[in-house]
Amino acid sequence: MILADTHTHLYLEAFDKDRDEVMQRAMDAGVTRLFLPNVDSTSVGSMLALCERYPKNCYPMVGLHPTSVKENYKDELAKVESCLIEGKYYGIGECGLDYYWDKTYIIEQEFVFRHHVDLARAYNLPLIVHIRESFNEVIRLLKDINKPDLRGIFHCFSGSTEQARQAIDLGFSLGLGGVITFKNNRMQETLKHIDMKHLVLETDAPFLAPVPYRGKRNEPAYVPLIAQKVAEIKQVSIEEVASATTANVSRLFGFTI
Ligand code: NI
Repeated sequence: MILADTHTHLYLEAFDKDRDEVMQRAMDAGVTRLFLPNVDSTSVGSMLALCERYPKNCYPMVGLHPTSVKENYKDELAKVESCLIEGKYYGIGECGLDYYWDKTYIIEQEFVFRHHVDLARAYNLPLIVHIRESFNEVIRLLKDINKPDLRGIFHCFSGSTEQARQAIDLGFSLGLGGVITFKNNRMQETLKHIDMKHLVLETDAPFLAPVPYRGKRNEPAYVPLIAQKVAEIKQVSIEEVASATTANVSRLFGFTI
């Protein structure tokens, strides 16, 4: 059984003391493919160091996280572009819109997101989209951009069935994380109506740990808890969830993981 964590920030400081142990626990749990979304220019170095240490298991992606969009966003975008020219990356992100933490730079966030869409198309890479409190705006933007060749993941998706269909119609997969294990989470109902071919699994470690670790530090080894919840809701085995979502990841990223 191969499981992929399509969204983990394992290079962040939260793991500085025990990163190798965390990696080992992921491997032991069958979570052997880790996709790392970048935050901003300050996190690229630690992300690449982790990928160099685990070249068969860790895949870097590059982008400017919406909460890192500040007055220096043009310099940050230039750095994203030079990364893409100089190195090998597997996705564009984390990018998108965040209306939860701070709305000071929403105009700039939109500009940056559009730029990431252009990069995803130019490099033929999936887009890792952050939609915190901004789902409708992201959909509006993607419809406005109207590029049917786009693909990617709506990270940390927990919307309605209608919202899931909107994302899928735009060519995107749904990233399911720990929140699906939370009591009465809306996604549990939504999932009943969505085919598994649209799903990928993720942790967003160190954030959003699944039950029974809710509130604690999250880590990739917890992906099976998310897979188990999906299996329960879809009434299939965890092996079926693993093979379906792993196939989806291969298709999305364009190589067999
Ligand atoms: Ni993230």
